[in-house]
Amino acid sequence: MALFDDEYAANPHPALAELRQAGPVHRVTSAAGIPFWMVTRWDEARQVLTDPSLSKRQPVDQLPAELRAALATQMLLRDPPDHTRLRRLVSAAFTPRRTQALRPRIEQITDRLLDELATVSEPDLIDRFAVPLPLEVICELLGIPGGERRPFHAWSNVIIGGSGGPADMVAAMSAIVAYFRDLLARKRAQPSDDLLGALLAVVDDGDRLSDDEVVGMALLLLVAGHETTANLIGNAVHLICRQPDQRERVLKDPGLLPAVVEEVLRMASPSATSTYRVTTRPITLGATTIPAGEQVLISLLAVNRDPRRFTDPETFDPARGDGGHLAFGHGIHFCLGAPLARVEAQIALTRLFGRHPEIQLAVRPEELRWRTGLLMHGLEALPVRLRTE
Ligand code: HEM
Repeated sequence: MALFDDEYAANPHPALAELRQAGPVHRVTSAAGIPFWMVTRWDEARQVLTDPSLSKRQPVDQLPAELRAALATQMLLRDPPDHTRLRRLVSAAFTPRRTQALRPRIEQITDRLLDELATVSEPDLIDRFAVPLPLEVICELLGIPGGERRPFHAWSNVIIGGSGGPADMVAAMSAIVAYFRDLLARKRAQPSDDLLGALLAVVDDGDRLSDDEVVGMALLLLVAGHETTANLIGNAVHLICRQPDQRERVLKDPGLLPAVVEEVLRMASPSATSTYRVTTRPITLGATTIPAGEQVLISLLAVNRDPRRFTDPETFDPARGDGGHLAFGHGIHFCLGAPLARVEAQIALTRLFGRHPEIQLAVRPEELRWRTGLLMHGLEALPVRLRTE
């Protein structure tokens, strides 16, 4: 079965349903020719995500030294006890209260982007709204001064858009790391109450984060929180526009939007398979035993539509009121930015549909282009009409 090609990107669900039906885990090959095991059922996904024998460590020795130092300290690539320590320190600074305090700024950024959007006749909602919104919000959260954000749009285009090859990606990440090092030195000289300032200041039981760790964390927040949230917003607008009854309900009662966002996370999981693990000893999933030293990814897209877990999983039903999706992962690496992603998506959708209740797709659904690539599930572009002529 052809996996991870254009057709798969446009609609991965038929192929995933076939695999899920055949068994909980499969040996597959990425487009780059790298073999790995892909988990397609919900129970086995939870098993993998809670089994401490699976490691998150990835080799970084191929990378340039300056990037290596920042990546080697990222908690997403560490196991306990290092992960436990990093997560404890970072959680003390990146609190749900900090996310709530950001609300008014997220609303302002959203409104500014919507003002600009309204000046274009058939805007691409991805390029003009879904991508810049989370980037601006992370810059705001970290405390990157307004006048210094422009290069981030170019760097993140390389990282998200895949314009250029792996060397450009490494160059963009190295540039971000160099920028953060410089910014950190300035924040040390002049303490600030943004997240970078808080990460520098946090002390727990006499322990604190090193500069490399703060830089690694800033880079992780940027990379982990940008494309994922952009995909969530794009996938949500796409799904709502394609279901007139849902749109009517949301327009009548915006209070339904949090439940709509959860159902989008389940049905169109923005982070398709970003759950890298490597086995350190053999592990048995269903009738399959995966040997030690093998790479395992969970298809969040597949497990979130597992009929063994969700009743009528192919139906978009925000009222199902079932928090069981794994779109933000599960266990010790559960997404640290989930509260922020939820707040951003809820504000984005409330403001967008509030201002443009007639918004609709400007192309036929089959003409939409989806990003190829294994890890993410999102649209390349989403041309919309903001009002009916
Ligand atoms: C971890 C998804 C937004 C920061 C994760 C994981 C998933 C995920 C699946 C777990 C990976 C694993 O177990 O290997 C998403 C989705 C998002 C989103 C779908 C948006 C809809 C964000 C945002 C931020 C963020 C906005 C921060 C600004 C992180 C961090 C981790 C993480 C720091 C690592 C946690 C750890 O290793 O303990 N995310 N994420 N994410 N996410 Fe998110």
